Amino acid sequence: MNKAAALTKLRDDISKDISLPLREANLVFGEGNPGSEVMFIGEAPGFYEDREGRPFVGQAGKLLNKLIEETGWKREDVYITNIVKRRPPSNRDPLPEEIEAYESYLKTQIEIINPKIIATLGRFSMNYFFPAAKISKDQGQIFWWNDKLIYPLYHPAAALRSTAVLEDLKKSFQKLPELVKDYEKLLAERKDIVTEGSPTPEPPKINQIKLF
Ligand code: URA
Repeated sequence: MNKAAALTKLRDDISKDISLPLREANLVFGEGNPGSEVMFIGEAPGFYEDREGRPFVGQAGKLLNKLIEETGWKREDVYITNIVKRRPPSNRDPLPEEIEAYESYLKTQIEIINPKIIATLGRFSMNYFFPAAKISKDQGQIFWWNDKLIYPLYHPAAALRSTAVLEDLKKSFQKLPELVKDYEKLLAERKDIVTEGSPTPEPPKINQIKLF
């Protein structure tokens, strides 16, 4: 099965799974280039995402598009999704049990896309991979999760509230093309591009990921 067909089947499986929480909201599965080397993973859909059934289409999404374009890529070149595939009521934070319920689907989605780099947007997405990581300390650093380079970034919504966060986010985005280019070398060396202050933890095995 090719990647597009595997994603269609996965979307179907999620929509049929009546055990999942938040089923009163629309499914926001994810979109983009299934062959992308870079996958962005946010937190959960908001009002506009729920309405359109697409990730990152509100104000935070507009900023994400701009940041992607400033790297020289287009939104359609990359793949974008969330850890939780339906909107929590009133845009509240996703609950641990909601993250856990959608966990196996995100894992399959990652396996299908098989990106080199996973850029996490915000602390929930970062903590999915590294529960002990802290966004203010670890954003813009590089980590390994098996053969995937995990690149924690601030959530674009946080950058809309703070110019300091926006500046950091812009700087981190500018390094993305270089990370893609250097991926094989970095994987071979398992060395951080930014070493100073980076507490790179041992990469947990995919099946050993603990959620909270
Ligand atoms: N915030 C997210 O984390 N995801 C979206 O899709 C939109 C806003």
